[in-house]
Amino acid sequence: MGYRVVVAGATGNVGREMLNILAERQFPVDEIAALASRRSLGTEVSFGDKTLTTQDIDTFDFTGWDMALFAIGSDATKTYGPKAAAAGCVVIDNSSLYRYDPEIPLIVPECNPEAIHDYKNKNIIANPNCSTAQMVVALKPLHDRAKIKRVVVSTYQSVSGAGKDGMDELWDQTKAIYNPTTDVEPKKFQKQIAFNVIPQIDVFMEDGSTKEEWKMVVETKKIVDPSIKVTATCVRVPVFVGHSEAVNIEFEEFLDEDEARDILREAPGIMVIDKREDGGYVSPIECAGDFATFISRIRQDSTVENGLNLWCVSDNLRKGAALNAVQIAELLGREVLKKG
Ligand SMILES: NC(=O)c1ccc[n+]([C@@H]2O[C@H](COP(=O)([O-])OP(=O)(O)OC[C@H]3O[C@@H](n4cnc5c(N)ncnc54)[C@H](OP(=O)(O)O)[C@@H]3O)[C@@H](O)[C@H]2O)c1
Repeated sequence: MGYRVVVAGATGNVGREMLNILAERQFPVDEIAALASRRSLGTEVSFGDKTLTTQDIDTFDFTGWDMALFAIGSDATKTYGPKAAAAGCVVIDNSSLYRYDPEIPLIVPECNPEAIHDYKNKNIIANPNCSTAQMVVALKPLHDRAKIKRVVVSTYQSVSGAGKDGMDELWDQTKAIYNPTTDVEPKKFQKQIAFNVIPQIDVFMEDGSTKEEWKMVVETKKIVDPSIKVTATCVRVPVFVGHSEAVNIEFEEFLDEDEARDILREAPGIMVIDKREDGGYVSPIECAGDFATFISRIRQDSTVENGLNLWCVSDNLRKGAALNAVQIAELLGREVLKKG
């Protein structure tokens, strides 16, 4: 016997990947429902070799469904998340709405799988921000060995992190530059994204950081260890899929770069590609469609005590969103619901 699974936001970037990954990983599904807004009622989406027709979330009855993977943004989740949870369906949510609620577990299965049991507080589990998810997969095994004091991270985040409208904006602006009869004004992003980089993701906070930067700080503390200090600069780049991060880590104890490389090679969810030669590292175009978080450029930072630098790349629609949500669903099945 398998699960009755709902995917909400099935027409979006993350929802489509959720359906792909549930099929790829042969999640034990007895029945699956694809939901979106009334706008896309009847739209067909793929689930393995099957085609599903999307239903309107507003009229959907969650009673009797085991779990619902949500990727519909915070506003819509505010309406439909509690409705699903109250009907007894466990919500695994990709928006930021519930991530900072102390009663709701925020889970990256490679880092804090034990938090799964807190799902019962509200029948809701939160999935982290894409840039946090890939970074903590690398930080956790290093932290377990040498205790991290401080992390300085700069991100290079792809446009798919801003949904399908973000991808369309990069595509349309790029075409318009070669065909100047059309003018594509920035809508989704604050400035032109084609052939440019933008040091703003999400809104500004009072202290001058952006909300995306704040999310990396708060979520790393909640998932790995509240004592870790994080400072982030998040930048949008004209890449369709795949977030990259330059990460500088300061440890309490000395950690040799070779040992760090060995630890990461053994760590779950990580693939180390680190040859000190031309092209001996991973770039975002190579990680698209993959499950792993790729680590390259591991090297000592001798400008601080016990410092290390590394380069971290992952498919933001996968580890940063849909894959992590499916891994949480697998964990929930294995540890709690025990069907399938
Ligand atoms: N992209 C990433 O890398 C990433 C990473 C982590 C988390 N997330 C989060 O995942 C969520 C989805 O992101 P996305 O990139 O997939 O966005 P997207 O491509 O813009 O898709 C949005 C999805 O939400 C649905 N939706 C929007 N408003 C709705 C409403 N009122 N009722 C029901 N469905 C509604 C849309 O359905 P229609 O087609 O009917 O409009 C669509 O299926 C967001 O919360 C985002 O923050 C994204």
